[in-house]
Amino acid sequence: MARTDDQASHDQQLRDAATRLGIGRRRFLTVTSAAAALAFTTNLPSAHAADAEIAPRTLTENPFTLGVASGDPLSDAVVLWTRLAPRPLEPGNGLPPTGVVKVDWEIARDEKFRKVARRGTAKAHAEFNYSVHVDVDGLDADRVHWYRFKVGSWVSPVGRTRTSPARGRHIEEVRFGLVSCQAYEDGYFTAYKHLANEDLDAVFHVGDYIYEYGIDAVGGDRKYTDRTLPSLFNHETTTLEDYRLRYALYKTDPDLQAAHAAHAWYVTWDDHEVENNYAAGIPEKNQSVEAFVARRAAATRAYWENMPLRMPKPDATDLKLYRRHHYGKLAQFDILDTRQYRSDQANGDGWQFPTPESENPARTLMGATQERWLMDGFRKSKAVWNVVPQQVVFSRRKNTTAAASKLSMDAWDGYPAARERFLAGAEDIGVENLVILTGDVHVAYAMDVKRNFDDPDSRTVGVEIVGTSIASDGDGEEHPGNWGTLTAANPHMKFYDGRRGYTAITLNEEHARADYRVISHITRPGGTVSTAASFVTEAYNPGMQRA
Ligand SMILES: [Fe+2]
Repeated sequence: MARTDDQASHDQQLRDAATRLGIGRRRFLTVTSAAAALAFTTNLPSAHAADAEIAPRTLTENPFTLGVASGDPLSDAVVLWTRLAPRPLEPGNGLPPTGVVKVDWEIARDEKFRKVARRGTAKAHAEFNYSVHVDVDGLDADRVHWYRFKVGSWVSPVGRTRTSPARGRHIEEVRFGLVSCQAYEDGYFTAYKHLANEDLDAVFHVGDYIYEYGIDAVGGDRKYTDRTLPSLFNHETTTLEDYRLRYALYKTDPDLQAAHAAHAWYVTWDDHEVENNYAAGIPEKNQSVEAFVARRAAATRAYWENMPLRMPKPDATDLKLYRRHHYGKLAQFDILDTRQYRSDQANGDGWQFPTPESENPARTLMGATQERWLMDGFRKSKAVWNVVPQQVVFSRRKNTTAAASKLSMDAWDGYPAARERFLAGAEDIGVENLVILTGDVHVAYAMDVKRNFDDPDSRTVGVEIVGTSIASDGDGEEHPGNWGTLTAANPHMKFYDGRRGYTAITLNEEHARADYRVISHITRPGGTVSTAASFVTEAYNPGMQRA
């Protein structure tokens, strides 16, 4: 089916706007704000306040095909999400190109909805692909709730969520999941089926929720025999319609739906939500900056539409994903965005020897504003654990035992000055109990964060828990080919496992514990879960030890 005229004109609008801004390739900060601004200044719902209401009785097919989700819980509030899509794999998702649907929602203290805490009606606008974001407040702290949506006679699946404890309040323990990297075409989301059964307070997703690559008719390594995916998925996503459809495809997955329905999520993105290894306004491949800005704006918008994120204020000009959450007195979560504001990868990206270019102190991974914000948060923290969910590997990873090693230019290793500012700042402030959470690399690691990675005897200042992928890179193996080299070359690397799965993390006043869960296989359904290893780091005595 051809793209709609609306879609084509939206893309042209963005391209024209980007061209008018006269964005230069290296002025990435300008491009960043331009892309983000463009994402939210075109087709705002207010411009279509007079949208005709679509009567619920005209919805003759179930509109709740993409499940429900909740996110960014506070002690008195949580964001509830759904998106109406009677035909999720068709352009337009089976709804008119303009219009608004009134969606009733309710949230209760019990699973049977006898004790309703709040209820109301939200509007799902065509402009935002009929997504619904309800920021429900007035809820009790530190409590499980259940929620659902209704349109006419259609009722959504029931979701379970949990408010956080009030800031500063004493709590015994918090348990959360760490997930990332779910290439649909690499296998089944069986890890999510098991994650849904875990007893968790929340889940952190640190990026690569979608991948932009084309997906063939059999769903790649899923090798479907019971369905054929439409050919419109078999090309790289570049337009708003492409990204919207890609989220719809992912969200039809029953295991992903189960994990969203079971837990509140805090999400942040990495590169594949837009394009592999992009940096701020700089594309990976040869694309004009104008076209890339338009692409990034489309990707940004589709991301916001599909995630349980708190609605940006009407005057917001970008999608600021870095944010801080508190979990009682026990934890402060500083969720980073290391993709949107970064300097371009040095030395042509990939694994390269460090050079004056990669070591240039002017290079940034978070951008100056976010760096200041993080240090300010560390300074004010009163939490036992300072947890930093973020995207790319923080600790040094040499791939040879020789003195000089190539390093990943896309990770913190490619931004050593930025890492040094992070570590020196944390040291000056006296940050205790630092736990960095990471995704991106599709393997699990337990690592000690050294004050100086060149000196194995230097102080251990915290730990890094790298969670493996949900699906990306297929079944994987316990010891990938470089297992021996990496563990020998990096003495601060205490654990390395190359299978698919997720990580369950427990924090209490004594220790932080990581249970590395792995799935037997994902290229066929029915994979079983087991714990590959468990590691703890003691409070005020950092260092990963096998539990
Ligand atoms: Fe990934």
